[in-house]
Amino acid sequence: METYVSGLLEGKRLLITGVITDASIAFHVAKVAQEQGATVVLTGFGRMSLVERIAKRLPEPAPVIELDVTDTEQLDSLADRVREHVDGLDGVLHSIGFAPQSCLGGGFLTAPWEDVATAVQVSTYSFKSLAVAALPLMGSGGSIVGLTFDAAKAWPVYDWMGVAKAGLESCSRYLARELGPQGIRVNLVAAGPLRTMAAKSIPGFEQFEETWTQRAPLGWDLTDPEPTARACASLLSDWFPATSGEILHVDGGFHAIGA
Ligand SMILES: NC(=O)c1ccc[n+]([C@@H]2O[C@H](COP(=O)([O-])OP(=O)(O)OC[C@H]3O[C@@H](n4cnc5c(N)ncnc54)[C@H](O)[C@@H]3O)[C@@H](O)[C@H]2O)c1
Repeated sequence: METYVSGLLEGKRLLITGVITDASIAFHVAKVAQEQGATVVLTGFGRMSLVERIAKRLPEPAPVIELDVTDTEQLDSLADRVREHVDGLDGVLHSIGFAPQSCLGGGFLTAPWEDVATAVQVSTYSFKSLAVAALPLMGSGGSIVGLTFDAAKAWPVYDWMGVAKAGLESCSRYLARELGPQGIRVNLVAAGPLRTMAAKSIPGFEQFEETWTQRAPLGWDLTDPEPTARACASLLSDWFPATSGEILHVDGGFHAIGA
């Protein structure tokens, strides 16, 4: 009998947000997805020429379109701009987070509402905004995946970003509820700490890096986004057809351990 081996994402058309460096989780999702047969379109925020340069380091250079998730015009025109590259979408990755400095590193009791509002708009509400913007291109069997940092607990220094992530986790469940009837799945991957640009902007991040590497039953490599990327690729594939509103931990098993 002839065996036909194909990639996990053969024929899938994916929109991937959140690439800023080649350490970005999104960069590794794009790489794994292409290796598994997907066609990838990237979105970039702000520093477009940098994102375009990084996009060329993928196995297949990917087109980059501009998207600031707080810009209504860019959201409204997203579907048309994506259509210039692919005729529809099978999956969308939300790999976006931002909080002003006052919200991180120990200022939990003093961060002003304006800064907290920015953190929530970019890191939480944007999951809904991106899903709605991409919806005209999606059909039954589609998959939307986002990234969280386990928000069931209060961490040192993560502060208002932790609150924003708790909101994201809830937002994901509500989106799963809203989009399920259209056959679209919505899930999150809860990654352990990874040394990306976003992580480096959190003062004192190394505090729980140490705990993680010591306590995770499988150990944890702070410099390897590939396990997280593979989980995202799996959720974007047809291999989780009945899973929605889920949070999949990719953290070396840390979340399961008390002390
Ligand atoms: N690095 C970690 O330890 C870790 C752990 C768990 C979850 N996460 C989550 O993974 C996701 C990706 O982060 P990363 O660690 O790869 O860092 P990163 O700095 O590489 O990516 C963050 C991205 O957010 C984008 N962004 C910020 N504001 C935006 C806006 N207004 N519109 C559109 N894009 C915007 C940036 O351009 C950047 O590409 C984030 O949601 C982050 O919270 C990271």
